[in-house]
Amino acid sequence: MSTATTRINLSAPWIDERDEELVLDVLRSGWLSLGPTGPRFEAMIAEATGAPYAAAVSSGTAGLHLCMRLAGVEPGDEVITSPYSFVASANCAIYEGATPVFADIDARTLNLDPAAVEAAVTERTKAVVAVDIYGYPCELDELRAICDRHGLALIQDACEALGATYKGAPVGSQGPSAVFAFYPNKQITTGEGGMVTTHSEEEHSLLVSLRNQGRADGGGWLEHARLGFNYRIDDVRSAIGIAQLEKLPEILAGRSAAATRYDQLLGDVDGLVLPCADDAEHERSWFVYVVALPSGTDREAVIAALEERGVQTARYLPCIHLQPYMRERYGFREGLCPVAEDASARTLALPFHTQIEEDDQAYVAEALRAALE
Ligand SMILES: Cc1ncc(COP(=O)(O)O)c(C=O)c1O
Repeated sequence: MSTATTRINLSAPWIDERDEELVLDVLRSGWLSLGPTGPRFEAMIAEATGAPYAAAVSSGTAGLHLCMRLAGVEPGDEVITSPYSFVASANCAIYEGATPVFADIDARTLNLDPAAVEAAVTERTKAVVAVDIYGYPCELDELRAICDRHGLALIQDACEALGATYKGAPVGSQGPSAVFAFYPNKQITTGEGGMVTTHSEEEHSLLVSLRNQGRADGGGWLEHARLGFNYRIDDVRSAIGIAQLEKLPEILAGRSAAATRYDQLLGDVDGLVLPCADDAEHERSWFVYVVALPSGTDREAVIAALEERGVQTARYLPCIHLQPYMRERYGFREGLCPVAEDASARTLALPFHTQIEEDDQAYVAEALRAALE
């Protein structure tokens, strides 16, 4: 319930006795890293996403990096991605010496515009990292057709989209390797952690080797078949992941109900653009609730007014190409992706998580209305 000393946080994980119980089991088992819990977590993600193989990794970023390795991305290559995403969508290419190329987004979905991707392809393009931003599935079939036509690898950055469906099937089931992330603001959390789902047995065994210092199946602990990384996830975190997955249906339903409540509370605010609605082919898994403020609004003043009333918000998302290191390294400037830049200047994430209270949402909506007046 909201009071004069209200503090409504942007996000909060949902951890309960079940998470504690499963973590305690692992701690008591003495098998802290590569025990039996990681494979159980992987099997549950494979089932939830409809992908035949899943490899758990230490973060979504690590998973994206390994996908670049699998795609054979090398220095001199270009990798096309969305400017309206978290930096890891582009950084994974830079880690392998490739150049990130930004294609503009669709103003409604905030996901990559396939026509812009097509226009960005050059003879140096090696891969496309397609992001399901804010849990809304990207235009996978169109992007896949472009990649097939030009012989490019397609990686789905589904870090924000566990539980989303595309054309009636879960994200992860369609074929391209997909990467999920489990930071505490995500639908499910392991503290830190990620997962790569794939439809290729060969890719899966390579992922398992690469995340584990390049060790090979059947080889000894001190035998390294290839250059790898320590991108493992331990059994303690996998135990949290299992407890979280057990309540995934409840989590998805709770977040969806919270989003519907915001839609109702804010639907009549003049000029305010709410997150795009699902359609027959796209069903969002609710990650964050991001609105676009009416054009011409002083976003900083709105943020300050909300902060004054104890409502935490975030400027989701700054354009990747306009980050200081990107400007410096590649000379990217304003005007490169006008649709993304306009969205980025106007969008604001409101407090949103599985267990957010209805009263708090009403308070946030009222505070936002007041700030906009
Ligand atoms: C779209 C997207 N890609 C990649 C990542 C990276 O995930 P992690 O923070 O687990 O490395 C995130 C998470 O913040 C994300 O939202």
